[in-house]
Amino acid sequence: MSMSSFYVTTPIYYVNAAPHLGHAYTTIAADVLARHHRQRGEDVFFLTGTDEHGEPVADAAHAQGVEPQELADRNSERFRALAPKIEATNDFFIRTTDPEHMAVVQDVLSRVRENGYVYMGTYEGWYCPKCADFKAENEVDDGELCPIHHVKLGREQEDNYFFALSRFQEPLERLYAEHPEFVAPKSRYNEALSFIKSGLRDVPLTRHKLTWGVPVPWDKGHVFYVWFDALLNYYSALSYAPAGQGFWPADVHLIAKDILRFHTVYWPALLMAAEIELPKRVFVHGYLLMDGEKMSKSLGNVLDPFAVIDRFGADALRFYLLRDVPFGQDGSVSTAAFEQRYESELANDYGNLASRTLAMIVRYRDGVVDGGDPDGLLHDDFAGLPERVAELLDRVELTNALDEIWQRVRRL
Ligand code: MSP
Repeated sequence: MSMSSFYVTTPIYYVNAAPHLGHAYTTIAADVLARHHRQRGEDVFFLTGTDEHGEPVADAAHAQGVEPQELADRNSERFRALAPKIEATNDFFIRTTDPEHMAVVQDVLSRVRENGYVYMGTYEGWYCPKCADFKAENEVDDGELCPIHHVKLGREQEDNYFFALSRFQEPLERLYAEHPEFVAPKSRYNEALSFIKSGLRDVPLTRHKLTWGVPVPWDKGHVFYVWFDALLNYYSALSYAPAGQGFWPADVHLIAKDILRFHTVYWPALLMAAEIELPKRVFVHGYLLMDGEKMSKSLGNVLDPFAVIDRFGADALRFYLLRDVPFGQDGSVSTAAFEQRYESELANDYGNLASRTLAMIVRYRDGVVDGGDPDGLLHDDFAGLPERVAELLDRVELTNALDEIWQRVRRL
């Protein structure tokens, strides 16, 4: 692979429910990066897909009286269909139920064990089945509620294989010191680093009570904890996706802050344990909010991206999300705000500019643009614009890049 390659990923989405606008948001942002790097002539690989194992999916399937595989098949198809609908140009769509992915998970995690980072232990503590995550005492709201889902948590006790995360405390601190670009924006870097510095505890690597997962090759009574299965998608996909070879390590993992710890702590530690090269950067964006809360299926405050696109079109949606919510921060979205941007910026600013310009070219220039010298002031206004936009996109500052362009639209 040449030096000029670029590998970008989205999280793989849970198939316990249909996609909502929050999922579309990350995929759109990743697509902007993929197109930018392709336009510059780089070899690009853009990966997205679905996370299909684990408790959230198994529970949702049982609640609907179907097998997990059936629910996974149905909802994975909806995520797959969302990508072209939002005009995402992903090169592959991974499913964690792909047998090729499952084999890589078994292989890599066996290596982690052979390298001495896996042992048998007992987990005792809080667990949120919706997050598929174990919670420390200080993370539990009001003594027993999930801080994200506001559901009552159960106490779990389970004999599991553990991953010796605590042994990576010092290597992770070194990674953060040597690579300050590993996590962006800076506030998220600080958050991840302070979590590491607060002291890492070992984490369950397998689940004994579940069957919906990748079987543990050395102990058939266990499946791998869904997060380790899921994280490995970024690595496994390249081994069987057509044209995927040679892109590792990833240049940018795009995620929202809900899954920060998995990507900025567990993931690099796991790769170190397996002796695999680390990704270059994790970029963490904020939440799309509705009525002041994170848009999420379990809270019921979601917008359906299919319906929004049918009404406004994919381009308008892409524009709206990157314009209205400063990329990297939380921001409220609503149909009213969308209509407002659509009218004032797309129809008025941009639409009027385009239609007047075209009309004047016909009327005063016989329909020919002769490439004559632009007005001197305008010339100055546009000088260096492509370079400036490219530089911002390289830093994943998507809203700032769009703003540079929009200032010129206004000026014209
Ligand atoms: N399956 C895990 C991720 C595994 S990655 C190895 C998961 N899935 S998820 O379906 O819950 O998707 C979470 C991701 O979807 C977020 O990190 C973000 O990229 C996107 N979003 C979901 N809701 C969102 C908002 N309300 N706002 C912004 N992004 C949102 O976690």
